[in-house]
Amino acid sequence: MANDDPKSSDMGNAINDAEAARAGATSISDLRPQVAYTDLREWIEEARKLGEIREVKGLTWQADIGMAAEVVLHDENAPCVVFEDIPGTLAGSKVLVNFFGGRRQRMTLGLPLHFSKLELSEAFREHYMADLKRIAPRYVNDGPVFENVITGDKVDITIFPTPKWHPDDGGRYIGTGSFNVTRDPDEGWINCGTYRVMIHDRQTVGFYISPGKHGRIQRDKYEARKEAMPVAIVVGCDPMSFLMTSSEVPYGVCEYDVIGGIRGAPVDLVKAPITGLPVPANAEIVIEGFVQPGNVKPEGPFGEWMGYYGSDVRDEPVMDIKAIYHRNNPILLGCAPQRPPRSCARTSSRPAFPTLPPSGRTRSAPRACCSASPSGSAIRAMPRRPATSPPCATPAPMRVATSSSPTTISTYPIWRS
Ligand SMILES: Cc1cc2nc3c(=O)[nH]c(=O)nc-3n(C[C@H](O)[C@H](O)[C@H](O)COP(=O)(O)O)c2cc1C
Repeated sequence: MANDDPKSSDMGNAINDAEAARAGATSISDLRPQVAYTDLREWIEEARKLGEIREVKGLTWQADIGMAAEVVLHDENAPCVVFEDIPGTLAGSKVLVNFFGGRRQRMTLGLPLHFSKLELSEAFREHYMADLKRIAPRYVNDGPVFENVITGDKVDITIFPTPKWHPDDGGRYIGTGSFNVTRDPDEGWINCGTYRVMIHDRQTVGFYISPGKHGRIQRDKYEARKEAMPVAIVVGCDPMSFLMTSSEVPYGVCEYDVIGGIRGAPVDLVKAPITGLPVPANAEIVIEGFVQPGNVKPEGPFGEWMGYYGSDVRDEPVMDIKAIYHRNNPILLGCAPQRPPRSCARTSSRPAFPTLPPSGRTRSAPRACCSASPSGSAIRAMPRRPATSPPCATPAPMRVATSSSPTTISTYPIWRS
């Protein structure tokens, strides 16, 4: 690792200094946002200082965690929950949900904790979106992600506490708060994009990328060349990194650069040993492998943010896992969509970054948003959890959209094909 590893700093002082700098500003323009963490574990410690972390032990991945995740996501001030001691899973492994509520929303973006939502949006726009700052990542030789290396026949992705998020999901989705790292085979640039990832079996996963996404454009290129696509899936990064990988950044711009720009310091990366793809040195879990051209398996359905089982079951590409790397006591970042209101809106209502890409590149179309979207009429049609439901009540089942549904999946603005 590089000597100037930011983790060696005193994070207790860091949050105090950062908050003082943020709070001392007299206007939003004067602010100097400061992100006070560099990985998920440091983020948890910052959220803990705010009193917004709850640890819950002994719930099952089969039903309990998905149910609890839905309940907390509907309450703006509900805590971030870390599920531990999940029966039948890797000892010490955890699942974290609901990272973007309460005051930790502001902390995540390095903004004053007292900001209203309006001030938060304005500050985000002014400091992060108006001018898309970029800081190139830095390669280091080693990192905590390599504390455990699993290869060959020992590869077993089912050891982690991946929840069944919604009762009728087609499988266990390990990728909800994750991102896929891929390289453009023609142009060489690296993309990091959040796409749902379902476990097929011990050594394969499948993921769904909707048309037009940068990961899909790259995947289609490999397919056209009849070449295997190398992929590294990062499961468990800090929430700000996740927010950027699930936001539209311009074509040809690597999300690691944008994350560095927001953090004000380069992201430390290591090269995944088999594919050479760059992954955060302090990621919790990384899955590395290849998608062979034409190799597909049924994927879905999955309960999506609009409150339906989106896209039903269909054949999607399969990734053969060649290696798994994970930290000791790995934490799986969960961001499974839930029904509106207050569902994934808090994490997916960010607008697209408007800055133009490097010359000669096409710019991606702005993405339609969730709660902030003008498509509110569609969202109002969603089934809602009755206000009288007791905490932890079984959520009403999402329904699968069919052609006879009064509101079909095609009504909704994203992830349709
Ligand atoms: C929680 C969450 C889950 C998402 N899941 C998917 C998905 O399964 N497939 C997809 O194509 N986009 C999904 N998105 C949207 C993409 O992550 C987003 O459009 C991102 O900008 C894509 O990156 P790219 O433009 O680099 O391809 C999701 C977004 C969020 C916030």
